[in-house]
Amino acid sequence: MGIHIDHISLLVSDLDKAYEDWEHILSVLSPEHTISVTRGEGKDDVDGTPMEWVTFQNQDPTGVSIQLWSPAEPGHWPDKVLAKKGEYVHHIAFCSDNFDKMIDDCREADIPLVLEEPSNPNTQPWLKWNFISPEKAHGPLIELATRYLAGGENWLPHPGNAENSELLGELEDRFVAE
Ligand SMILES: [Fe+2]
Repeated sequence: MGIHIDHISLLVSDLDKAYEDWEHILSVLSPEHTISVTRGEGKDDVDGTPMEWVTFQNQDPTGVSIQLWSPAEPGHWPDKVLAKKGEYVHHIAFCSDNFDKMIDDCREADIPLVLEEPSNPNTQPWLKWNFISPEKAHGPLIELATRYLAGGENWLPHPGNAENSELLGELEDRFVAE
């Protein structure tokens, strides 16, 4: 099983402004992060929070990307948190090529997880996530998520993941000559 620290994610109140500021910062400090920028939106399948996010992708598939996210519409819990404590580092994400095993390993080691069953954005049912509690992690949530491939502006299922053997087979049938 392979796990890497995939991204640091900031909860921001104005996604466009945060995007502009981070593009400015990264253009000076790490221009490679501005080569591939992905976007997503969707509702959390469990609590219904409408979210939109943008990720400055690290060019190294096991490198750390920078993600910004904000509520896609008002009236949900992020409004209250933003009003109370302002913008902040919301989570650090670990992505695995075997999500279920990563979760099982955490449970076996008595690492406290926030969700009984994983959630996902309703727009990407294949992208599972759960979280280690901020108390255990001393501040941010630790997101545990499915490894993805950045393709164009989207996150796509990674054919090398344990749950994607069928997808891998389809790709091999299509692209690997006999
Ligand atoms: Fe994330």
